[in-house]
Amino acid sequence: MVTNESVGSFVAEVVQKMPPSGIRKFFDLIEKTEGVISLGVGEPDYITPNVVREACCNALEKGRTKYTSNSGVPELREEIAHYLQSRFEVQYSPEQILITVGVSEAVDLALRAITNPGDEILVGEPCYVSYAPSVSLAGGIPVLVPARAEENFKLKKKDIISHISSKTKAIMISYPNNPTGAIMERADLEEIAQIARNYDLLVISDEVYAELTYGRKHVSISTLPGMKERTLLLNGFSKAFAMTGWRLGYAAGPREIIDAMLKIHQYTMLCAPSLSQFAAVTALREGMPFIDEMVNDYDKRRRIIVQGLREMGLPCFEPQGAFYAFPCIKGTGMTSEEFCEKLLFEEKVAVVPGNAFGPSGEGYIRCCYAAAQQDIEEALERIRRFLNNHQESKAAVL
Ligand SMILES: Cc1ncc(COP(=O)(O)O)c(C=O)c1O
Repeated sequence: MVTNESVGSFVAEVVQKMPPSGIRKFFDLIEKTEGVISLGVGEPDYITPNVVREACCNALEKGRTKYTSNSGVPELREEIAHYLQSRFEVQYSPEQILITVGVSEAVDLALRAITNPGDEILVGEPCYVSYAPSVSLAGGIPVLVPARAEENFKLKKKDIISHISSKTKAIMISYPNNPTGAIMERADLEEIAQIARNYDLLVISDEVYAELTYGRKHVSISTLPGMKERTLLLNGFSKAFAMTGWRLGYAAGPREIIDAMLKIHQYTMLCAPSLSQFAAVTALREGMPFIDEMVNDYDKRRRIIVQGLREMGLPCFEPQGAFYAFPCIKGTGMTSEEFCEKLLFEEKVAVVPGNAFGPSGEGYIRCCYAAAQQDIEEALERIRRFLNNHQESKAAVL
């Protein structure tokens, strides 16, 4: 007879061994606590632009509710090709683009399409929580490469090279970065490109925050010499157009790899949501002013939060992209998780422990500033009070 204890043995070993997402654990705590100011969730506080919502309603009224082509609506793939060329100077034909269910599906497809059992995939960290588990689920071995605060959270050549083995197949990077807010400029990316060319590696580049940079324009690694044929560029609509719930992303890359990803996609997803795809065409055609307005606004909030955190004595790297501040809390003597749990219980402010994004994130916390300015200001006030209280209790013990 199957008992409660033995039923768990049906679960695959790779899943049994996988820790639950450090972010999820925190959100469960937040949901149980009332009156919380959340700088936790990594999503725009904006609502999807009006024109995009209208386009969705129009498509719905016209009954455009059926499966689309597996690759995605041709009109959308054409529009993405045009967008990538005009915004980031990367050239892809619509046949080199696959529409996916968010960047999340694109990450999964990319890894499953390229990984043989035991292949090693380098993963720059701290990074988005799904990368290492997705490598494991694809049968590969994630090899974490640290990016350090002393180096402005950029991935450095020496660290990458020291993690390469004969089994290394690819490297995953994501700039602008979640959780650090770091960016990589052309010269920084050239180091990675050189390694990829020398060691014959594929680069999986998650550029979902490409539109969210402050003062500097995003550079895609695929624009560097010899890189287009060895880069899979992943991007989507969640962050740039405030469309997290629409579940829409895409991959652009060499036709052979995109076709391999398409094979998996057609057996698993069939296609991305049709209404989201029709709406996304309008986002690309008419949504640029919205992005400009949102980025200006985030830039203001970015300055407020970084200054506020520094003024209360927390060293804080200046984020140049995405919408996260990543202050160092090592001076408090607390671990990242202790800090976040106590802050949530004592002051009702939700932030995410840095170690949820990889071991190099220990000693940091992630504060998302895509929140209302008054919430950011109130959260800063509460964090200040929290630090004061803990400094006093530390002093009393000494
Ligand atoms: C770096 C990064 N990649 C991918 C995702 C997921 O994107 P999507 O909503 O398109 O699946 C996130 C979400 O926070 C992210 O931070």
